Amino acid sequence: MTTTTGGITIRTATEQDWPKIVLLNEICFATPQTPELTAFWKGLVGADRPVIALDGAAVVGATMDIPMTVTVPGGAGVAAAGITAVTVAPTHRRRGILRALYTEQHARIRRSGVPLSILTASEGGIYGRFGYGPTTVESTVGIDRRFAALHPDVPDPGGVRVVRPVEARPSITEIYDRWQRRTPGAQVRPDNVWDRIFADPESERGGGTSLFGLLHDDGYVLYRCVSGEHGTTARVQEFRSVTDDSHIALWRALLGLDLIRRIEASVVPDDPLPYLLTDSRLVRTTSRHDELWVRIMDVPAALEARVYRCDLDVVMQVDDGFLDAGGRFALRVRDGRAVCTRTETDPQVVLALDVLGSLYLGAHRARAFAAANRLWAVDSSTLDALDLAFGSEYSAQMGWGF
Ligand SMILES: CC(C)(COP(=O)(O)OP(=O)(O)OC[C@H]1O[C@@H](n2cnc3c(N)ncnc32)[C@H](O)[C@@H]1OP(=O)(O)O)[C@@H](O)C(=O)NCCC(=O)NCCS
Repeated sequence: MTTTTGGITIRTATEQDWPKIVLLNEICFATPQTPELTAFWKGLVGADRPVIALDGAAVVGATMDIPMTVTVPGGAGVAAAGITAVTVAPTHRRRGILRALYTEQHARIRRSGVPLSILTASEGGIYGRFGYGPTTVESTVGIDRRFAALHPDVPDPGGVRVVRPVEARPSITEIYDRWQRRTPGAQVRPDNVWDRIFADPESERGGGTSLFGLLHDDGYVLYRCVSGEHGTTARVQEFRSVTDDSHIALWRALLGLDLIRRIEASVVPDDPLPYLLTDSRLVRTTSRHDELWVRIMDVPAALEARVYRCDLDVVMQVDDGFLDAGGRFALRVRDGRAVCTRTETDPQVVLALDVLGSLYLGAHRARAFAAANRLWAVDSSTLDALDLAFGSEYSAQMGWGF
């Protein structure tokens, strides 16, 4: 237990604190929480693991994290703390309570030895100062299905069946696991998260229908329909595919939903969807967003966990303005594998920890950060080498929201 200069106490929560934590969540995220949802979060986090801030007896801030395993380029699973439900009461904002909570929580995460801490951000301006960088890129696209025609060169592999998601649970979870093991940023999905997806509670349908499912041996789609003034939209909640054929077959099935006007889905930058259509402009991007943010807690462990696309010899100076994960590191890559050690040698690259977090899963480019003066490299060929080496065969994508 610690007390801040402002008289705020920071301590670990107990079971008895949960009603107050839940109330704070409801107010901060403007969303009432059902008892089932509270039980779900408690199950994921552990009742006595949140860190809370108290002003007298009042809970005025909270943060918690879920133990996770996240895939990095090359397919290794790395332990991560998945930070969630970060709240400070509107009566107590901007007086350092989040910083005090984070200082305590990250000291615990560091002691636990996990190489990564991850989160999703309600606002983009908060977490860079704590060493987090956005590390996946996703776009929401909408297709007016009435005009969408498949390109004549695109095959018709078939193999898709319509299913009730809950009845296809073993197939869906098995495909997710295959997709997750190869996709940087994707987390192992615990059973209780699956339980909630298949339970499909009315409170989480956003005014849409219950979930529909399309299943292929190597992919699946979960979607729901929403009726509006201009017809019905099929909103894809999850599209997971591990082969080109299943990707094509599932899109063919979605585009075959005759009475649906519009299909909405979330895609990663290298999704081949536009190339499937005779008119690629029909895939209209309506928003582009970050999902997963990464703070590297242990630079050598994190950099050695992933694979690289070419040999590399570089000394990097990594600045951590929040904790002490930074320093100078020699990164030597041979045949895809890295050895990363602390060094005193002059750096060829200087960057902040949040920028390294953004490069880590291959979704962002060192050259673009250099152009923004957020990364310094000794010469242009070092930038090229970094960008090539840090690339990833598969686009990074978050597996499930938390
Ligand atoms: C975001 C939130 C937790 C911030 O709590 P807080 O106690 O006011 O934050 P602090 O006073 O400790 O601020 C810590 C730092 O973050 C900055 N910061 C806080 N909120 C910010 C925001 N919304 N945008 C940009 N910077 C922000 C502060 O300026 C401060 O910077 P500094 O320490 O470098 O000077 C609080 O506003 C909140 O509960 N918001 C609603 C729920 C939410 O969005 N939670 C985050 C979920 S990801």
